[in-house]
This record gives sequence, structure tokens and C-alpha cells, in this order.
Amino acid sequence: MQNLNNSIYNRGNEYFIQEQNMKSLCETYETPFYMYDANYMLKKYDSLKKYLCWNNTKIFYAMKANYNPHLLKIMRDHGFYLDTVSPSEVMLALKLGFERDHIMFTANNMTDEEMNQVKEQGVMFNIDSLVRLEKYAKEYAGSAICIRVNPNVIAGENEKVQTGGDQCKFGILLSDIPKVLKIAKQHNLRIVGVHEHTGSGISDLTKVFKSMNNVLDILNPIDFPDLKFVDFGGGFKVQYDPNEKPIDYAEFGAKAGQLFQNFCMGYGRELEMYFEPGKYIVADGGCFVVQVNTIKNNNGRLIVGTNSGFPHLIRPVFYGAYHHIINVSNPEGTPHKYDIYGNTCESGDCFACERELPEIRIGDYLVIQNAGAYCRSMASEYNLRAFPSEYIVYNNEVITSKKRISNAELAERILSDYGIED
Ligand code: LLP
Repeated sequence: MQNLNNSIYNRGNEYFIQEQNMKSLCETYETPFYMYDANYMLKKYDSLKKYLCWNNTKIFYAMKANYNPHLLKIMRDHGFYLDTVSPSEVMLALKLGFERDHIMFTANNMTDEEMNQVKEQGVMFNIDSLVRLEKYAKEYAGSAICIRVNPNVIAGENEKVQTGGDQCKFGILLSDIPKVLKIAKQHNLRIVGVHEHTGSGISDLTKVFKSMNNVLDILNPIDFPDLKFVDFGGGFKVQYDPNEKPIDYAEFGAKAGQLFQNFCMGYGRELEMYFEPGKYIVADGGCFVVQVNTIKNNNGRLIVGTNSGFPHLIRPVFYGAYHHIINVSNPEGTPHKYDIYGNTCESGDCFACERELPEIRIGDYLVIQNAGAYCRSMASEYNLRAFPSEYIVYNNEVITSKKRISNAELAERILSDYGIED
């Protein structure tokens, strides 16, 4: 029976995505490839919607986590709202048919050009500095905006993804709210939303409630008479390591709903509560498959070489992130400790160190789990290896979403990108 911890489940010693046998998928499609379980991602969205039981809750999926357009189309048909961070994300979302009022734009260090481009698209702006607020107010006096504040709480699964606290580049400090109000008043801006995002992968829910309270504490109907929503960002944690204790989001949702209801009673009218999850929706609905082509026994240290590397999936190298790995080719093999390496010219290019796995042999397929969020979307073509192909399992059918281009095509493309004729 499948739970909502991962889209891949095992029956006996075989692994499946929906009714598709993982080993057969690995043998059918050329590796390396990403594979996403779209139905599972929709289930994750539905679960969160159910847990966040305040009547007026909207979930904006943070499309930076995975902007695969086939997935986005499926999400659009399911009624998703979107959190976007760049003009191109906004443009892609609109081209895919998302409604303008289903899109929130939260750019950090926005340029004037970006501001004007996105303003033309007519989506909601979330402004995260006083400098930008001044410029926006002068250019677009009288319009409706959202303000991103810094909740003054430090949380998140590693330092690089913590976005709160006064040493951090994000949001307007709570102590600067009087300045926000002054600018808004001078230019007749209507502050319809207030936003905060504390960090990614937050395991300590007391920190989440602290952020929520810190923001709600500054909001009152006199200073913020036009308020329609409060947006509490993303940061919902997923279990990267199956041994991690799962977070009870049903309990979280009930408490958050209560907190917000109490706030609205004090405020004097019902507001909307927004969240912007990325990881929670897509991380555990995706995997990345590589194949083993080299094994070295260096004085007892078992070094496994694969046909991909950190340019395709950077989280272990960049954040020290744990990604669970399954040897689908030999699930009953005798376990050994392995270092699983990539194929780039850097010794840090390691997917997993000293990882116990069933015996790995040349040609075996390794499935790297929890690769649906911030993996393909953070990939590069470093060392000039083309992006992996991407497949989507939807209603138990495997859809080819994006094919990997050939080595020759990549070389050609580089020449053409730089305007060099062959
Ligand atoms: N809202 C805002 C304003 C954000 O900056 C982010 C993520 C989210 C929502 C979604 O956060 P999530 O629910 O996915 O935690 N690349 C990192 C994560 C970076 C998150 C950046 N901002 C990783 O792979 O762990």
C-alpha cells in the first residue's frame, strides 16, 4: 500500500512507480533520466489542501522547484496557483494558460526592467525591499501590492536556504514597517497582501508558528485597511531520508487554521491565507536514474562511477543533502558500503558517501529518490553533457516529456549559441 512519503514503492523486492516496474523503466529508457509521477504530485497538493483547512486557503506552487511544462499543464488543469520569481517564469506560466490572478511574483533584487516587464503581464507583485517599493510606488501609484517582510526567524534545512533573520537579504524588516506605510500613503498604494518565507525544509514547526505570529502581530485594520491575504511562503519539509520522522501536517494545518481564524476575528474580517510550497508538492514524486559504468576497489574503499554527476543533480554537493538511493538491478544483493560518484572532473562530485547498498555491479541502475524538486531545475551543462531526458508517469502511462539531445547536437548548439558557423 502506497503512503505519501515517496512515489516509488516496493512490492516484494521489486520497485514501482504507479504500476510501472522501475527496473523495466530503467532498461527501456536511456539513462540518465528524470522521472516524475504526476498523479502522486497532485495527491501531495490535495493532501496539503485538505490539511490546511482554513476556508480561504490558497496554495501557490513554487514553480522554481520544477518548471517542467508538461507537469505545469497537469497542475494548471488541477487548479494550482503559482509562485514565480522571474519574468520568464511569469511568461511561461501565462503561456501555459495559468490565469493572471493565479500568479504571484516574488523577485529578489528586481531590476527596473524586470519590474516593468512583469507589470505589463498584470500579475500580483510581492515587493521585498524599501528601494524597490519606492521605485514601484513612483511608477505605479494607486495600484495594489503585496509586501514581503522578513519574519525575523531563522529556520530551514541548511544555511543556504534560510531566508529569515536580520542578517539575511530577504524581505523588509518588521521594524521598517512604518517606512512602508509612509511610502504607500504618499503614492496611494493599496497593500492587499503581506508575505513572508522563512526557509526551506523546516523541521521545527515552532519556528513556523513564530514567523506567522511575528507577521500577524504587525497587521491591523488601521495601518492595513486594504488587506486581502497573508502569505506564509513555503518550507514544508519532506522526508529525504526514510529514517526521518515525518512531520504531521494535518496537525500543523489545524493549528495554523485556528491561529489565522483568531487573527481574522481580531482584525475584523475574513482574510485569505496563502502558502507557497515547492518541495512538498514535487520532491518525493520524482527520481533520477543513473547507470554504473566503473567500480574501483581502492584498498577496500568501493568507488562507484556513474554516467551522470552534480551538473545534473547538485543537491548532495551543494547542500550536503541526503538523497536515498535504490539499486533496482540487484535489490537482493549482499550489502556493502559504497561511494557513489559522478562523471565530472571534480573529486567532490559525489552523490552519496559510505552508503550501504545491495552489491553494485557494472551496468546496474541506481535510482536516486526525492529528485522532483530543485534537481532538474538547478541542473547545468557543465563539462558539456546535455541535460538528462525527462519522463512523466501520468495515469499509469509513461510520457516522454523532454528528450536528451545527442552529444553532437550539444556541440552544434554551443557553436550556434555563440554565433559561430560550423
Ligand atoms: N516562496 C518563496 C518566496 C521561496 O523563496 C521559496 C523557495 C518557496 C516559496 C518554496 O520553498 P519550498 O516549499 O520549496 O521549501 N534549492 C533549495 C531550496 C531553495 C528554496 C528557495 N526558495 C533546495 O534544493 O533545497
